[in-house]
Amino acid sequence: MKKHKVYVTRAIPKEGIELLSQTCEVQVNPHDRPLTQDELFEAIADADGVIGLLSERIDGTFFNAAPKLKGYANYAVGFDNIDVEEATRRGVPVSNTPDVLTIATAEMAWALLFSVCRHIPASDKLVRNDSWKGWSPLQFIGAEVTGKTLGIVGAGRIGRAMAQMSKGFNMKVLYFSRTNKPDFEEALNAEKVELEELLIQSDFISLHTPLTPETRHMFNAESFKKMKNTAYLINTARGPVVDESALIEALKSGEIAGAGLDVYEFEPKLTPGLRELDNVVLAAHTGSATDTARSNMALLAAKNLLAMLEGGNPPTCLNP
Ligand code: DGY
Repeated sequence: MKKHKVYVTRAIPKEGIELLSQTCEVQVNPHDRPLTQDELFEAIADADGVIGLLSERIDGTFFNAAPKLKGYANYAVGFDNIDVEEATRRGVPVSNTPDVLTIATAEMAWALLFSVCRHIPASDKLVRNDSWKGWSPLQFIGAEVTGKTLGIVGAGRIGRAMAQMSKGFNMKVLYFSRTNKPDFEEALNAEKVELEELLIQSDFISLHTPLTPETRHMFNAESFKKMKNTAYLINTARGPVVDESALIEALKSGEIAGAGLDVYEFEPKLTPGLRELDNVVLAAHTGSATDTARSNMALLAAKNLLAMLEGGNPPTCLNP
């Protein structure tokens, strides 16, 4: 008989499941959909360990439903879904998956940036619908990226990768961060500025900050007023960092030129009005969705959980 019972709340790449299965009895949500809260709580009732998703609240109610829990591994780097303080108070270690999805997420931010500023979805639609009349001097004119100013909000791992990649486009990089990042400045020739300065000067702003009470609605009506009318906002971080209603107004009125979004304030629901706009590109929270990143996330989550189950230190523990 295997030593530990593990529940995985949604199918993840096999690398993680195979590793866990060597020593644990592993059960995976059999449905291709999130579990309802009742289903989830029933499934974790006798679990020693759980791997879960950013869409599940890991709080006191969750811990009450899993009284044997020795550890919880988030299958995400962002951990605004976890009440870390409560986990720590109960002596339950919790972890996330940093580093392994840095490149994938930064690449996604670039994909959104180019998609929106070169109108790729609209152009694709036109061609696909057989409505294209041929090369046109004035059609789908967008913004050039090379040599422009990139504003990075949140100078952590993903913000840094985004800035690093901008070197190929010879961009000026500004960043806003609550802490000084000397390495960021030296290696990337990036300049730390106040948020207001970043808003005023940037041609492209990319969000890479975690969701915290301080960053909720950090981008709001006031912010959009300060941005250039020609500027674009890219969000691969967390939806609630942006006040989505204010963003819709700014996109409608031309206060900003466009937005590329991978995350939403009320995910997976969209604020009414967003889907009708043609100066926004909407992706389905796929920042980390590369084969490499997702496999490595599964492996890291499994390693974290195995360490917790054995009473050791998980490689990427969140508890202080
Ligand atoms: C994360 O890891 O936080 C992303 O949002 C999903 O991979």
